[in-house]
Amino acid sequence: MSESFGVASLENKNTWKIIEEELEKPSIFKSRESLSPEYIPDQLPHREKELRELTSYFKHLVTTPGSISQRVLITGRVGTGKTALAKVFGRDFTRLATEKGYKVRYAHVNCHRNRTLYNVIADIGRQLDVPVPSRGLSSKEMYDLILNYLDERDEYAIITLDEFHYFANISGPDAVYFIVRTYDAEELFRRLNFIFIAIDPVKLGFLDPTTEGYLLRHLVKLNPYTSQQLFDILKYRAEDSMYEGSYDDEVLRFIADFEGWDKGGGGNARHALEILHVAGSSAEADGRSRITIEDVRKAIMNTSREILSVSEAIRDSPIHELLILLSIVKLLRKTGRSELKMGEVEEEYNAVCEFYGEVPRRHTQVYEYVMNLSRTGIVQTRSSGKGQRGRSTLITLPYGPLDVLEKYLDELIRKKIQLGL
Ligand SMILES: Nc1ncnc2c1ncn2[C@@H]1O[C@H](COP(=O)(O)OP(=O)(O)O)[C@@H](O)[C@H]1O
Ligand SMILES: [Mg+2]
Repeated sequence: MSESFGVASLENKNTWKIIEEELEKPSIFKSRESLSPEYIPDQLPHREKELRELTSYFKHLVTTPGSISQRVLITGRVGTGKTALAKVFGRDFTRLATEKGYKVRYAHVNCHRNRTLYNVIADIGRQLDVPVPSRGLSSKEMYDLILNYLDERDEYAIITLDEFHYFANISGPDAVYFIVRTYDAEELFRRLNFIFIAIDPVKLGFLDPTTEGYLLRHLVKLNPYTSQQLFDILKYRAEDSMYEGSYDDEVLRFIADFEGWDKGGGGNARHALEILHVAGSSAEADGRSRITIEDVRKAIMNTSREILSVSEAIRDSPIHELLILLSIVKLLRKTGRSELKMGEVEEEYNAVCEFYGEVPRRHTQVYEYVMNLSRTGIVQTRSSGKGQRGRSTLITLPYGPLDVLEKYLDELIRKKIQLGL
């Protein structure tokens, strides 16, 4: 067969052979990207009812545009499909509206990245392609610019503010009020409609009662997935991303039963997909073309067991201890080394604090926190022995995987910040 491609003329058969062998190795994934958390699937099995609810809230955009400015709140635990639901809705709704001759735009703002009112509004402007003058604008001016831009073009927009609790917590009640409740001020404001995504309605306590009451009026609540639902989701996503025959129902069922809400799991689709991904990767790394239950067991161990026991230990740790632990995890990942010096951890910690909007603690306090972590067995420390600059403390983590740990810590820290703990 290689003859027909004229390969025989290649001088170096050796390199060809290597590449050919690699290419012919058994493979599990036909598209790894479609298993990544960022990927937006075509369909959302078991979110049909919620998609209908969402659509009914925005129906005015294709019946009586400009009649109201809608505000809807989506809530649910991590991995219940909040982000996916909003994005799929935005994608399909705008497409269908266009077909009907209505101009509806969609923008999805991540409030974890854009934490201030100004950044949120600027991101909305960017996503809607609003030309912005180079001189600095205030939030209000920017907002007006967007409204006028839409008005001139007779367009309407649905804006999703994802991880809204994060924005609300960082930017405070005035910023929230500006976004949530400016609706009744002028007709022009009806150009914008909003979807707010937050992790749980109970944790919206930081809003003033009127704003909260207003938000809760149009609520789409996503329940954690049951085992059967996760099975269907896994099956659908596996068909998309993996070769037929590389997995079977037993494997998917095993994951679904582990993670299903009704079976005592978290009902978290992201976690279920991650287990499948990790299991597939280890089968592939072993040169096998089929995922076994043992792969899944290992993947479950790697993605949760360690994390679960650590999470137990750090659940009630003070926030700065968690920020330090996160700095250690990040730095170990970044450098690929097995041990870190106290000084570099402290440097990373300062950057991490800035990211979360926290004021870093002083050196002696940082040292004390590291020692606490060491005492509770969460990190290991040892003295480097006498070097040129005297003794230094070396820090390491005996477990992993680091990426999962990093994600876990990030979520925990955000939750704590949001609750003011
Ligand atoms: N019903 C579903 N069908 C297919 N994939 C889903 C479904 N629900 C969630 N997912 C996938 O699970 C992962 C987590 O969903 P996501 O929307 O990020 O959850 P949340 O925003 O609630 O934390 C994503 O990869 C998403 O595509
Ligand atoms: Mg999300």
